[in-house]
Amino acid sequence: MVDEVRIVEVGPRDGLQNEKAAVPVEGRIAFVESLVSAGCKTIEVGSFVSPKAVPQMAGSDAVLRAVSHHSGIDFPVLVPNEKGYEAARAAGATLIAVFASASEGFSRANINCSIAESIDRFRPVLARARADGVRVRGYVSCVLGCPFDGEVKPAAVAAVARTLRDLGCYEISLGDTIGVGTAARARRLLRTVAGEVPLGEIAMHFHDTYGQALANLYAGLEEGVRVIDSAAGGLGGCPYAPGATGNVATEDVVYMLDGMGVSTGIDLPKLLDATNAISRLIGRPPPSRVATALNASVASRNCET
Ligand code: HMG
Ligand code: MG
Repeated sequence: MVDEVRIVEVGPRDGLQNEKAAVPVEGRIAFVESLVSAGCKTIEVGSFVSPKAVPQMAGSDAVLRAVSHHSGIDFPVLVPNEKGYEAARAAGATLIAVFASASEGFSRANINCSIAESIDRFRPVLARARADGVRVRGYVSCVLGCPFDGEVKPAAVAAVARTLRDLGCYEISLGDTIGVGTAARARRLLRTVAGEVPLGEIAMHFHDTYGQALANLYAGLEEGVRVIDSAAGGLGGCPYAPGATGNVATEDVVYMLDGMGVSTGIDLPKLLDATNAISRLIGRPPPSRVATALNASVASRNCET
């Protein structure tokens, strides 16, 4: 079906932004380093948003500065406006992500403005990024449902995706923020968005609230999408999306793709080390099925010896 898939590891940002107790900067840096060791080539390391809104992401400048010495690895960060752009650039960001919503209710809750206003905020950010040679990824949230507005039409998603692309985003990541999608709806969505944005510029960012993310990703791979966002251990969620759980776990995605003979460049045992270390730090076992199964099999082997 496909030889290679690019994984965008979002654990240090999406995974940790929703933790009740913020993970200190040193722990976040160690997490990113362990993901680098596991072979991750794109790692979203933080957000330059209001620390009053998301205190867990305060110190993202220090995280970015500490890891930027790695060559050949992209470390994107979220930027909601020009203030965030300036802070991200001061910390050395060369790849940023702006984030819009396909639904008005989530846009208001998340970034305190309408969809149209958010695009107006991104316009100068994209213009400055172009002048500075900074690449910009674009997120569209609530692509398969909104916690406030309910159903979201694929055409509404496609329109926002197209706008972000026209503004200069090199890739559009489609977020099932509350993880309500199913495979048939994911497929329909991708076909609709592909009418406005080339498939090669689309990424899938599916949360796993209803346990459908792998099935939805498989449908997307069949449609021709080659970029998947995931979080080590399946950590996380969005503080402004009530009821949503973490992203699909990177372990679960890599295990599925390894089984299909699809290369990701990520080493599963090393990824498990990264997940176990961050899980110890936050004091919870990872929700990932594959991490749970691999840890159980290691434990039972240790019992036998
Ligand atoms: P606002 O209140 O409309 O903005 O917030 P404002 O311009 O009126 O500023 C209010 C205060 O925030 C001011 O400070 C500003 O200086 C400060 P005060 O005067 O009260 O002390 N401020 C900032 N501080 C630091 N960095 C900035 C910044 N901008 C303003 N960049 C804003 C608008 C977007 C800033 C706010 O609503 C916010 O930070 N929201 C957080 C949104 C967020 O991070 N959500 C989670 C990530 S999105 C997500 O998880 C979805 C995704 O994973 C995809 C998916 O799953 O669908 C990407
Ligand atoms: Mg997300």
